[in-house]
Amino acid sequence: MITLERLHTALGSRPFQYFPQVESTNDIALNWLRDGAAVGSIVVSDEQTRGRGRLGRSWYAPPGTALMFSMVLYPPETAVGRVTMMGALCICEALESLGASDIGIKWPNDVRLNGRKVSGVLSEAVWQDNHLRGVVLGMGINMRIDFTGTDFESTAISIEPALGKTVERIALLVTLLNRLDHWYSRIESDALFAAWKQRLVVLGREVTAGEVRGVAEDVDSHGTLLVRTEEGILRRVVAGDIALGE
Ligand code: BTN
Repeated sequence: MITLERLHTALGSRPFQYFPQVESTNDIALNWLRDGAAVGSIVVSDEQTRGRGRLGRSWYAPPGTALMFSMVLYPPETAVGRVTMMGALCICEALESLGASDIGIKWPNDVRLNGRKVSGVLSEAVWQDNHLRGVVLGMGINMRIDFTGTDFESTAISIEPALGKTVERIALLVTLLNRLDHWYSRIESDALFAAWKQRLVVLGREVTAGEVRGVAEDVDSHGTLLVRTEEGILRRVVAGDIALGE
């Protein structure tokens, strides 16, 4: 269970805010960023009533069933695209440390466990006078959501039933924060890109991204997906979602 006291003990000197219920942790963190939050500050909630996903989607989990938090970061402007990359990589590493083996990233940044989505990452940047003020990195991780009978039954998964054991959300949060601290200080490194790329489950596979269809051949260091079409043309896919083929 997440409580203020347990978070205090687990997070030490890291600035944080905790809400049993909130509209979106990203919104609180974005406001905190504008007010000058320290780097690495986090906002944690047990439930969101207006949680956001990528591409304008909503993201909801019943109370007590997901780890949801947002972190305030101030990366260099040139590394803004690396923030979601880093988030997905850190989730992979944290889940691997729990014993998960079949972990991968579905481009751009959905984390998959046993071939199903276990976590999503949403980063939102704040710009001022054409300069990057900062970025909020939001993460939602399915811990014990029961997807039976829902639209997500065949596409989503939760950590606890997949691993067959109880995983405390605060313990996972602490592991994740360690990974985030590690990679944030290396956000511009080739090593971060290589570790992210190595976990991509799309390379070499047939993909459809909007009107682009072909084989996902590579990614560049900004995270752009390079798709070779049937006509042999290399198309760049910068954002969006892909459907995986064979
Ligand atoms: C996605 O899969 O499309 C991204 C989902 C991101 C959800 C997290 S939960 C914590 C943070 N607050 C939000 O409103 N969204 C992110």
